Amino acid sequence: MDREFKRTLVTCALPYANGPVHIGHLAGVYVPADVYVRYLRMKGEDVLYICGSDEHGVPITIKAKNRGVSPQDVVDEYHKIIKESFSGLGINFDIYSRTTSEVHAKTASAFFRKLYDEGKFVTKETEQYYDEEAKTFLADRYITGTCPKCGNPNAYGDQCEKCGSTLSPEELIDPKSALSGSAPVKRKTKHWYLPLDQYEPWLRDWILERHKEWKTNVYGQCKSWLDGGLQPRAVSRDLDWGIPVPVEGAEGKVLYVWFDAPIGYISNTRELLPESWEKWWKDPETRIVNFIGKDNIVFHCIVFPSMCKGEGTFNLTDNVPANEFLNLEGDKISTSRNWAVWLNEYIGQFPGQEDVLRYVLCANAPETKDNDFTWKDFQQRNNSELVAIFGNFVNRAVVLTGKYFGGKVPANLKPEAIDKETLDQILPCRESLEKNMETFHFREALKDAMNIARIGNKYISDSEPWKVAKTDMDRTASILYTCLQICADLAIAFEPFTPFSAEKLRGMLGVGLDAGRDYRSGEGVPTVNFYAPGDGRALHTSSVIPGCSDAVMPGPDGHPVLSWNDLGRTDLLPEGHELGEASLLFAKIDDPVVDAQVNRLHEIKAANEAAAAAKAAAEAAKKIQPQKDEVSFDDFGRMDIRTATVLAAERVPKTDKLLKLTIDTGIDTRTIVSGIAEYYTPEQMLGRQICILANLAPRVIRGIESKGMILMAKQGDGKMRFITPEEVVVNGAQIG
Ligand code: MF3
Ligand code: ZN
Repeated sequence: MDREFKRTLVTCALPYANGPVHIGHLAGVYVPADVYVRYLRMKGEDVLYICGSDEHGVPITIKAKNRGVSPQDVVDEYHKIIKESFSGLGINFDIYSRTTSEVHAKTASAFFRKLYDEGKFVTKETEQYYDEEAKTFLADRYITGTCPKCGNPNAYGDQCEKCGSTLSPEELIDPKSALSGSAPVKRKTKHWYLPLDQYEPWLRDWILERHKEWKTNVYGQCKSWLDGGLQPRAVSRDLDWGIPVPVEGAEGKVLYVWFDAPIGYISNTRELLPESWEKWWKDPETRIVNFIGKDNIVFHCIVFPSMCKGEGTFNLTDNVPANEFLNLEGDKISTSRNWAVWLNEYIGQFPGQEDVLRYVLCANAPETKDNDFTWKDFQQRNNSELVAIFGNFVNRAVVLTGKYFGGKVPANLKPEAIDKETLDQILPCRESLEKNMETFHFREALKDAMNIARIGNKYISDSEPWKVAKTDMDRTASILYTCLQICADLAIAFEPFTPFSAEKLRGMLGVGLDAGRDYRSGEGVPTVNFYAPGDGRALHTSSVIPGCSDAVMPGPDGHPVLSWNDLGRTDLLPEGHELGEASLLFAKIDDPVVDAQVNRLHEIKAANEAAAAAKAAAEAAKKIQPQKDEVSFDDFGRMDIRTATVLAAERVPKTDKLLKLTIDTGIDTRTIVSGIAEYYTPEQMLGRQICILANLAPRVIRGIESKGMILMAKQGDGKMRFITPEEVVVNGAQIG
């Protein structure tokens, strides 16, 4: 897309407010988006950064029901957790609102209404499952039954989680309502559909011809949807949680969550900028970029654009740089199995190490294929990249400057060719970094930034200022002068990726950074991130700084203020400039820290497996044996079943299952060997009244003659229980 644009609207997929955000969400959507936004802003572009919670949809109602609370309670809880944890990771949207807001209800209703009034929907009456006990239509998720493909008895009406098949409720064998457990019935219901088939020719042209620049995974998914042919898609649901369908005769119907959620991007813009929001959505000079995960591609590339096309007044997206999925320690991340690293937990457990997660997730982002997060890799990247290269270089440069030059940038007294050769390598890193950023190759862009640190680290190791200082202070001055310029370049280059550490580094260097304009206050204010002299932590100051390209601008306190355009320059810190205090940029992560995380995951896996085994056993227990062949009354009459009492019991040596029981049958005292030792101890047997088949032909079991058989109720899983008379009767009483 070569269209000229004046501003960029960046959105991130609105996370469902039914659980915290995890590393899969972060690597797929939020870290890349944040890197991109910070980068564009530093370059002086006008960027609006929008997100919020997606608070409708059936899973939220199910969670509420399971917990016995209202859906509003569920979304209130998670909205807060998600919002706080994003800002804990330095992801500061201009607005993080929610789809239960008033502005959203108004915006989404108006959107629907316009399409409705202009006849852009088709209606269809279909038969859908209805729960007569609960008196409600059942969303697909609310219907369970046996999967026709794999036999899993707990498949959902939309999907079988065991074999991964996509299902429709009609395919389920023995469907049951998850609300009442009763068998649902078919009932007629009317819904509004967006006739995607009508948009197909336009979509083919818009995507396949005009957006060939989209990432191959995105383009490919769109192509295969389009090639498969599009069907009308229902945009309403029979549900009591959501935005009511704003037309007469639509009682009990709400907008489908995937209809209202993307409109949330618009509503949230409107909430933040009530006066000027339209400029971001209707001016053709605004470019829209949607960051999403791969499961959202169809909604952002096909459904929402068709909605906007039909509505007619909103801009279409320019790019949808969707990522693939991140796995965790080799397994698919799963909220229901608690197989995840949760952002809110990470922030609590790794204070001050927010950047490590940002770094690792960006370095390992699933940009072209699914990727795996492991704690070992996390540790390794921290220790051997952030600590050993970036941190080590900066630390040596700043500490040695303190030691030899009293913490002031020394004069470049004795330059050598190697200095220039080294500094000359930085601009190409910037060029590559920019190219990668602009084409959404954030892993590569991060490598470019890290290369600047590698260049610095190699230079300082090769030039050995700590040795040179013994004989040649002028040369030492030049070496450290050069190193400090590279440090300043790093303080710029790493800002998009590891903003906390970049800030800390600027504190050590005594410089600020022009971070560009942000809209958190609603107006679009230029911001400068200055170092806070005390703790080196973010001090967010707003002040008007003209974009600076030829000269490093002094900030209000006289310190230099760097900007993106300074990256690659070799004179960022003037001679005599006073540095701040040295501190460690990154801390090593020791084995016990990651071992604890891995152990936690092992425990979760064990608990999941135990739960699955218990569930399987419960299923097996319920398995009922088919009825045996018919017997005659006489056949039955030949069996002599009687009451008896256990007088003595002991284990049969060298067996797990057998007990040797001495029994008073009323007729005699005899021995019966019985396979019940798994379920009863000898002590539990003493004095019990039981029922036996008395006239079973004697058998020798383990050398013991057993006369008769104890009657037991046996479940499908093997569990056995005695048949005992309701109250004690004489021994030898006949049963029949
Ligand atoms: N809540 C959805 C998900 O987590 C994403 C919604 S994106 C939006 O998959 F565009 F609909 F908002
Ligand atoms: Zn299945």
